[in-house]
Amino acid sequence: MNIQYNISLRPFNTFGMDVHARKMVTIEHEAELLTWLNESSVHDETLFILGGGSNILFTRDIEDTVLHNKIAGVEVVNEEEDHIYIKAGAGVNWHSLVMHCVERGWAGMENLALIPGNVGASPMQNIGAYGVELKDVFHELEAIHLHQKEKVVFQLKDCELGYRESVFKNKYKGQFIITSVTYKLNKKPVYQTGYGAIQQELERMGVKDLSIAAIAQAVMQIRRSKLPDPSQIGNAGSFFKNPEIEKYQYIQLQALFPQIVGYVLAQDKVKLAAGWLIEQCGWKGFRKGDAGCHEKQALVLVNHAHAQGAEIIALSQEIIASVKEKFGVRLEREVNVY
Ligand code: EPU
Repeated sequence: MNIQYNISLRPFNTFGMDVHARKMVTIEHEAELLTWLNESSVHDETLFILGGGSNILFTRDIEDTVLHNKIAGVEVVNEEEDHIYIKAGAGVNWHSLVMHCVERGWAGMENLALIPGNVGASPMQNIGAYGVELKDVFHELEAIHLHQKEKVVFQLKDCELGYRESVFKNKYKGQFIITSVTYKLNKKPVYQTGYGAIQQELERMGVKDLSIAAIAQAVMQIRRSKLPDPSQIGNAGSFFKNPEIEKYQYIQLQALFPQIVGYVLAQDKVKLAAGWLIEQCGWKGFRKGDAGCHEKQALVLVNHAHAQGAEIIALSQEIIASVKEKFGVRLEREVNVY
């Protein structure tokens, strides 16, 4: 365990916001966490849990104690004829886990390559990309209740995983710290290449024998070509969710905007591509000071160098207002704001 005071969080958030934490406690083992939580002095402290810092926009300094979760470790915990169960510490880097599994031929996560952040955030956000969501490979997770200081095991149904949503962002917000996640992977791969760009990229790469390694490579190429690398330009991936509207509204919009991009879902709902809506409002590549809208993917807001959280929020509000005015659709943030 490591305790630091008055520390800049700039290296710990991919948006690169230079806010300070009054106190940051870094834990690397579950036992260490329990010991610390049981110290009497901690009872009065309110905690802010920080993982990979890849889906958070800081707008101010943090008075709460920042608990930096760096619990490590990856192990096989069970094996069946067709499946293998991998348990990973919440502090393990997500992409390194994906590559660890791809290299061993354990299938299921390859479409989720290169998503920034750590294992602990994967169920929190129900991360997803290129036709696969975390819930497709999730088995269970362990979390510690911060007040009761007891370990709780959550099965898939307990997590209420939705589109970039879970109980940990909603009814249990701030109550649990996820310590490990167990994934159920396939020994015999089921390739997911239906998402448009993957097939094209595999063809461009000249792949003849499809493999999970090839899919991971294709996904990495696509992501690198569209999404800004946080080590170069601060960002937290998609800033907004793709909004869901009723099918009749979609038909009305289609009449006005024949190029509109939408995916028909069950129950007469349609998911619109927010990036398209934002681009049509003229924001793609926009920059004001150091706050901007990415030039290759309008859904991603960026910090070119020294933008403040408030400037990013102000830009996001202008974008929300213009999309509402042009299309009558309300965008919601996907990124967590502190
Ligand atoms: N589009 C535009 N202009 C833009 C951006 C997108 O017209 O500036 C259009 C594209 O041409 C395409 C459609 O919108 O027809 C969808 O774009 P894309 O495939 O890039 O995906 P997305 O819907 O914008 C979502 C996820 C991403 C994930 C990709 C790929 C959300 C909020 N975002 O983006 O996830 O990588 O699909 O599966 O669901 C993240 O959550 O941080 C994230 C990056």
